[in-house]
Amino acid sequence: MPAESGSPGDGGTHRPIRRGPRHQVSIRDVAERAGVALGTVSNVLNRPEKVAPATRERVQRAIEELGFVRNDAARQLRAGKSRTIGLIVLDVGNPFFTDVARGAGDRAAEAGLSVLLGSSDQRTDRETAFLDLFEQQRVQGVLLSPVGDVDERLARLRDRGMSTVLVDRLSQGRHFSSVSVDDVGGGYLAVQHLIEQGCRRIAFVGGPLNILQVADRLQGATKAAAEHRGVQLEVLSQPDLTVRAGRDAGQDIVERSPADRPTGVFAANDLLAVGVLQAFALLGPLAVPDDIALVGYDDIDFAGSTVVPLTSIRQPSELIGKTAVELLLEETAALAEGRPFERQQVVFQPELIIRESSRRR
Ligand code: RIB
Repeated sequence: MPAESGSPGDGGTHRPIRRGPRHQVSIRDVAERAGVALGTVSNVLNRPEKVAPATRERVQRAIEELGFVRNDAARQLRAGKSRTIGLIVLDVGNPFFTDVARGAGDRAAEAGLSVLLGSSDQRTDRETAFLDLFEQQRVQGVLLSPVGDVDERLARLRDRGMSTVLVDRLSQGRHFSSVSVDDVGGGYLAVQHLIEQGCRRIAFVGGPLNILQVADRLQGATKAAAEHRGVQLEVLSQPDLTVRAGRDAGQDIVERSPADRPTGVFAANDLLAVGVLQAFALLGPLAVPDDIALVGYDDIDFAGSTVVPLTSIRQPSELIGKTAVELLLEETAALAEGRPFERQQVVFQPELIIRESSRRR
């Protein structure tokens, strides 16, 4: 804070003292302006139903006139927890996870909570950074779609009082609650459908197999192929689960001779499937489904509006987010009240949504 030149009363010039941040209006300022006690202002903020309407209106008018904003950080520190939940997804660019976040956000709002969203982008360093941040923010708990094996890390968080619910995959050791879909069953459904459409050479276009969802879908696909004589399943692994990666896989197929191409493709998620479709249309052309049938996974909103509407394995994405919040709230309430509780593994069933991309005439 720069000192004033000269001193008051000596005729010297006085540069105004530059204040720090704009004067923060306090709860005391509001009480004085409204002519009420501090406790009354606190009640208007936290338990408005306890305050007479006329008094409540006077206080609210003072809040608006002064521009008072409550300091949640201080309140949170006193309470030990913030009114937020942390959600870490694998890829915020994937509409599946934005739908999960929407379901989580809606259910959290019903409990007066907000969701802080982080995207690990399938990187363990980013996942760790968000876990650290959410612990420092004293969130009520964390919903996590993990990159790899995080059980030990999450156990340490739990020992320090922060609960976690796994999203979109089972808790391997059942140490945490989880909400997921039977991805083995989903992979089986996809390949069985392609086989029923007459496909015998099938390609699985997938992402890194350290992502359990991808590994499970491949396991189901392999099971379905093995149950049908004469069906070959090849794996085209991609570094990630994006449209770009799908386009690369599609280009690989287009550049083969017709006899070496698959007659059906099962993509581990819809973004990969969209990329495969783009490659077939732009680099082929290869007609879908007449030359090659195509099935995706997630049934994201625009799966039905692609140039050839996409057959996909539907996941109840918003319900996954909503259910994960409910499991977290149940756990945090039980811990706070010292009640016993069971950690649950909620597993939803996938659904085959058939559209033009696999419907053989
Ligand atoms: O993030 C990888 C995939 O796993 C997503 O597309 C979604 O299917 C999730 O289950």
